[in-house]
Amino acid sequence: MKVLAFETSCDDTAVAIYDDKQGLLAHRVHSQNEVHRAFGGVVPELASRDHALKLLPLLLATLREANCSLQNIDLIAYTRGPGLSGALLVGSMFAKSLGLALSKPTLGVHHLEGHILAPFLESQAPTFPFLALLVSGGHTQLIHVKALGEYEVIGESLDDAAGEAFDKVAKLLGFPYPGGPALAALADQSQAGRYRFTLPLSQDPYNFSFSGLKTAVMQAWRVCPQGETDKAEIAYAFQETVIESLVRKATNALTLTGVKQFVIAGGVSANRLLRERVDKLAKDLSIQVFYPRLAFCTDNAAMIAYAACQYAKQGKWDASLACEVKARWAL
Ligand code: KG4
Ligand code: ZN
Repeated sequence: MKVLAFETSCDDTAVAIYDDKQGLLAHRVHSQNEVHRAFGGVVPELASRDHALKLLPLLLATLREANCSLQNIDLIAYTRGPGLSGALLVGSMFAKSLGLALSKPTLGVHHLEGHILAPFLESQAPTFPFLALLVSGGHTQLIHVKALGEYEVIGESLDDAAGEAFDKVAKLLGFPYPGGPALAALADQSQAGRYRFTLPLSQDPYNFSFSGLKTAVMQAWRVCPQGETDKAEIAYAFQETVIESLVRKATNALTLTGVKQFVIAGGVSANRLLRERVDKLAKDLSIQVFYPRLAFCTDNAAMIAYAACQYAKQGKWDASLACEVKARWAL
């Protein structure tokens, strides 16, 4: 079975073709960073327009790379939510129209379910059950993944996502959008200095909060001389606090569930300090850690194609033509 998938939930346009026997045949991602940089954040209307412009050329390139024609596709999948409604609508309309024109079934996929299942695209994949830490620009969640479609959210951010906090603090310190990776790189080159930030929501074992931390950084930055040393030391202290919070709560969730496999997904999983601390945790707790390759940690359509394929194999797809997307959608 060949599944063609589209991902347009936020600021990446992605297309992939997955075959349940041969695995991933091709995948392409177009980042909109250049489109949004001047505005310091994602502009939803510009995101929708750029998805509309890029979907067709990306589809043609992906088909070529997979050496596959549209006639060979068995199912057309798309991200149904959560995300920006306009952006989601572009992808779903594109998928539904293609489905109608080709008389192929379609299936809308939950974006976070895609992220959770992304490690199955790797040769060294986990088995159910496992704990997933999803850390991206839009989400920070600890999820007990019991089986396909059986997910229990154990903890999540009550305000900003971890990646969002990285980007907002980076913007405050003068980095261009999205500044999270550059801020992390500066923190890595720095060392502990005069700044310390309180661990947020320390009384709550599983939930996160990063908005107060962002305000604390803002206050520290406003009253300091704002030299390079201040910037580096603040970046260091901020990163320490975010990663410490993620790792502590993940440790609690691992203890609660008793699972022995731990998946880290989402853009923040690229963070060096997070990986270092999680690898140490894995040793201490004798658990196995899985990081999907970076291209599958960040937004991509391969994970959407894989998730859709699992449901299609159970005979589940969508026969209706209704383009109903869900900007907010609980897992
Ligand atoms: O999953 P993703 O590509 O996009 C979604 O949010 O869906 O994640 C992007 C986020 C951004 O907020 C970015 O700043 C953050 O991941 N990020 C990092 C690092 N690399 C990417 N945050 C901290 N350290 C990094 N090395
Ligand atoms: Zn995502």
